[in-house]
Parts: sequence; structure tokens; C-alpha cells
Amino acid sequence: MRSVTAENITETFLGYFGKDTDPRVKEIMASLAHHLHGFVKDTKLTHDEWRESLELLKWVGEITTPERNEFVLLSDVLGVSSLVDMINSNPAATSSSVLGPFHVSDAPEMALGADFKRHYDGEVILVEGYIKDTEGNFIPGATVDIWQTAPNGLYSSQDEEQDINSFHGVFTADENGYYCFTTIRPVSYTVPSDGPVGKILDATGRHPWRPSHLHYIVSAEGYRSLVTEVFPNDDPYLDQDTVFGVREDLVIGYKPQAAGTFPKEGFELSGKVDDAFSKIDFDAILIKK
Ligand code: BEZ
Ligand code: FE
Repeated sequence: MRSVTAENITETFLGYFGKDTDPRVKEIMASLAHHLHGFVKDTKLTHDEWRESLELLKWVGEITTPERNEFVLLSDVLGVSSLVDMINSNPAATSSSVLGPFHVSDAPEMALGADFKRHYDGEVILVEGYIKDTEGNFIPGATVDIWQTAPNGLYSSQDEEQDINSFHGVFTADENGYYCFTTIRPVSYTVPSDGPVGKILDATGRHPWRPSHLHYIVSAEGYRSLVTEVFPNDDPYLDQDTVFGVREDLVIGYKPQAAGTFPKEGFELSGKVDDAFSKIDFDAILIKK
């Protein structure tokens, strides 16, 4: 096409595909062109605005390291990560939610009932639940990989004061699909906002806060792994998570337990907790592959 116009550029683009192009690649690229060209026309984008946008993307690339993937963060704050999650989820299973950049592979294996908080102070939280399939059968031996921030709102990889495995651990559910551990109440925290994503949040009058949560990856042989998060139902940022990760079934009440009622056995902290504490019951439902 030698007379490309604003009217025919999308059609021209579609005509440039090679005949052996993979049909799915073609479908995705055609839709991308359609929406991108439409976006430029709708907003009557100026040269300066486009140049500034490309500069921002360049900065996203420059700031990205193995420890900090600003592209993932950009996808998160634009709601794309959550949308991909939601359109690929199965309503019979527990909802998935954002992975975030702070998962540590090879976190230490912990015995059921182990304590996550080590020397940190805070309200003790006893977490327990069952891993099940969509028919309600318990899945024995499922792997439950958990992580959260320290009370300062930082994950271990963001904080020189913590060792890399701090507040990370992998549990194996028992023969009844049961898992349990103790930790301290997670805190609300901000996603990294000192880079291009922070600039976008600022420019649009948005804050960088996430409601407090525990991260989970639940896996079992023959099932799709579930990446999810569990939120307390009283967090002030529940209705304005900057990465859109909250789902109805992931919001759980922390049940207050009276002083002196901590289980006498079965937990690393048994015999060591006299004060009041809280309890979370969270069951995860997995889908067969
Ligand atoms: C997180 O929950 O760890 C997280 C998720 C998305 C972006 C940044 C952090
Ligand atoms: Fe997180």
C-alpha cells in the first residue's frame, strides 16, 4: 500500500501479515493494531505525548533488573495482570491473584505448625485450612508456598535487615489436605513508586498502596497451580488495591481468639503464646489439569 491514510492504516497493517503467520499471533496482533490505532485516533495523540510515552517505556526497561521487573509492575497497576488472571480463571476454583515480584524460589521447607515470624513482634496469627478439589475431596500432600512482608512493609529482597528467606516458607499439607502455621498480622504496604510506574500513579492522582495480604502458591500433582493472596476483611485499602488483586472469595475475617486459648500442641509456638491472637481459616480449591 503506497497511499497509507489514517483511515486505511489498520487494514493495511492486517494485509502485511505473511501467509504462514501463526493464526493466534495474527489474531493477537490484529486486535492490538485495531485498539492501538483506535487509541491514537480517539485521543488525537500529539508527537510530544507519544515521545514522552516512549521515554517512559524506555525508563521501564532501564530500571528493570532480575530483582525488580518494572514491566510486571506496569502491567499490575494498569490492571492487565489481574484481567489476564480473571478471564483465565475457573469459577469452581479459588480465585487467583497477582504473583507480584517478591516470591523467592527455593524458600525453606517448614513443618506443619511452624512459626514464620521468628524474632519479629506483632499480633500472632494462626493460619489453617484444607486444600481441596472442586468436588470437595481433600488433596493430600499439596505444597503450600507462603510469603509476606515483615512488619516494616518490606519483602526480604527489598530489605537488607532481613535474610532472603525471612517470611517465606513452603509447607506440605498432610494426608487430609490440612496445613497450618503461625505468623504475625501482615501490614498494608506500598508497591515500588520511585520509578516510571510511580510517575504514572502520581500523574493520575493514584496512591501506591496494597491492602495487607498473605501470598500463596498451592500446587499438587495432577492439578493446576494456584497463585493467590488472602486479605483480611478490615483492611482500609481493600477497595482500592493499586494492583486490582482483591477478589470476594479471598477476603477473610481474622477471628479474634481469647488470651490463654492458643493450642497446647501441634504448633512451634504451643506453650509460648499467652496473649490473645487471631485465626484465619483459608481453604484453597484446585482445578484438575
Ligand atoms: C505484591 O503483592 O507483592 C506485589 C504485587 C504487585 C506489584 C508489587 C507487589
Ligand atoms: Fe505482596
